[in-house]
Amino acid sequence: MVPKITTLSGYLHEYQKSVANPTGFWANIAETFYWHKKWDKILEWDFHNPKVEWFKGGKLNITENIFERNLFLRGEQKAIIWEPNDPNEAIREFTYNELFVEVQKFANVLKKHGVRKGDRVALYMPMIPELSIAMLACARIGAIHSIVFAGFSAKALAERIIDAEAKVVITADGGYRAHKVLRLKDVVDEALTQCPTISSNIVVKRTGGEVVWNEGVDYWWHDEMEGMEEVAPAEILDAEDPLFILYTSGSTGRPKGVLHTVGGYMIYTAYTFRNVFQYSSGDVFFCAADIGWITGHSYIVYGPLLEGAISVMFEGIPTYPDAGRYWDIIRKHEVNQFYTSPTAIRSLIAEGQEWVQDVNLPSLRVLGTVGEPINEEAWHWYHDHVGDNRCPIVDTWWQTETGGIMISAIAGVIPTKPAFASLPLPGIQPLIVDSEGNKLCGKGVQGNLCIKFPWPGMARSHWGDHKRYVESYFSQYKGLYFTGDGVKRDEDGYYRILGRMDDVINVSGHRLGTAEIENAINEHPLVSESAVVGFPHAIKGQGIYAYVVCTSIPKNAEEELKNSIKIGVSKMISPIARPDQIQFVNGLPKTRSGKIMRRILKKIAAKSTDYGDISTLTNPEIVEEIIEGNHKLIK
Ligand code: PRX
Repeated sequence: MVPKITTLSGYLHEYQKSVANPTGFWANIAETFYWHKKWDKILEWDFHNPKVEWFKGGKLNITENIFERNLFLRGEQKAIIWEPNDPNEAIREFTYNELFVEVQKFANVLKKHGVRKGDRVALYMPMIPELSIAMLACARIGAIHSIVFAGFSAKALAERIIDAEAKVVITADGGYRAHKVLRLKDVVDEALTQCPTISSNIVVKRTGGEVVWNEGVDYWWHDEMEGMEEVAPAEILDAEDPLFILYTSGSTGRPKGVLHTVGGYMIYTAYTFRNVFQYSSGDVFFCAADIGWITGHSYIVYGPLLEGAISVMFEGIPTYPDAGRYWDIIRKHEVNQFYTSPTAIRSLIAEGQEWVQDVNLPSLRVLGTVGEPINEEAWHWYHDHVGDNRCPIVDTWWQTETGGIMISAIAGVIPTKPAFASLPLPGIQPLIVDSEGNKLCGKGVQGNLCIKFPWPGMARSHWGDHKRYVESYFSQYKGLYFTGDGVKRDEDGYYRILGRMDDVINVSGHRLGTAEIENAINEHPLVSESAVVGFPHAIKGQGIYAYVVCTSIPKNAEEELKNSIKIGVSKMISPIARPDQIQFVNGLPKTRSGKIMRRILKKIAAKSTDYGDISTLTNPEIVEEIIEGNHKLIK
């Protein structure tokens, strides 16, 4: 197991060590894993011609580090406890031994379908154990999984399958979400009409709903698993071989396939999991994220299972069948560490005090949040009512690209402050710069958050587009990784994340590119142009505000048109990208070079009155008109 920091002086000591000798620091941690062959070189890196390689030449398989490494001690211990959407349905549990058998059987199924090392497999699945089994089976044979959150549309799924040239897709007939049944196979069927690289679609029977069956392409999971050989030797990979691709939004149109590699990601997720949450053997850890996002990859599956943890996986939502569902799960499974998002917390606050009034959760020791800045009110509610004033909150700042947690308190070790992510973890060297790239040293500064030295969990590239990777993170400030976030460092040296500085908006912890949403809006036949910005939203953190210019608006049909634009966005991307507000405008404020001045649009949507300098606009008169329209729309 990885070493665990247990005191503040221990943290300070480890942090110093990790900065003075980063390669020695990470090599010591890497030694605790199982390698077929030790690495040739600990680290090779360059942030000017960006390239990062950790433990190159080291040979391993991440699933051997989950299974073979843990089995002697924990073969009969639970690995996954699955809690269904409907609390009356039976829970499913897998010991490490049982999970290992399922993973190996499914690895053999994948092989039977022609999947080999380096091939891509797309997963479009509900939160059921088969999702974890499928991803680990890919890792077992060296295939690269690309999980697409099961709320994305057929078009968004097809785009991701095409970009990754996936060979096999895995889905379910459907999924449950509160009262709703999601017809996942229908979405996959529609996507597959555009995806010539897919030869097999393996379907888990979850809901038993009617599905259209495509002979020669569709295969039932249970049929394929029936009688399958229970042993699948691990494919031995290089530390720098890809482990997975996960698509996320950036400031330009297309989603980008963030690429993580085996060795560094393994070490980083295990280390951060054990330390941030102070996991001890036998604890029950519950991360309420969806595996379709990075949080689920790193802290439902890889981090916990590498560390031999018991990981709770939940299919449903926090308000079904009622707003006490999380607390019921925590009580039922005696959860020790609970990890969720500020949006989930705010949505529970909105449900009323009665759900937490007498909630008594003695098993809880640590609370975590992730995905967006947590406001102080939500922090206190979480701390006082859920954590009974005794559980530390770890406000964990990180990104799809960072692989694991970067800035966070270590539970019970680093003192916390509401709304502050607090201090960098060992191995992480943040740097704050102003817009010209000048370093802002010392305390009490505010600027753009960069990282100046590589860490093992960082993304290595974008699938098939290294140039875009370089442009996305390394082009703004020479020699630094730019996170896209604004940050403030206070007098105690604590970091407070202020949110995105680029054209990315964070809606309920989901990251969306404004350009991506605009592209979808512009597809509407009556739309000629649009600009999308985020605006403060009481529950979601940020809502989506779209300024839309139409060629014509049919008389008395404004609302209808707004609805059809919203439906269009849901279909093109996902319901999570659906605008909260649409304002029809006659034009957008533009600079002389034709660029939309979003700064002003953001201010108007946020009801701020300080618009800054508008003299460089070609059409300053439009601003007044837009403000007036906004007042009418939102009183
Ligand atoms: O803006 C930051 C915000 O979420 C972004 C990363 O989004 P994504 O790649 O989808 O990963 C989310 C889960 C790790 C960041 O650039 N963010 C994430 N965690 C926090 C946060 N903002 C403030 N506080 C956090 N704890």
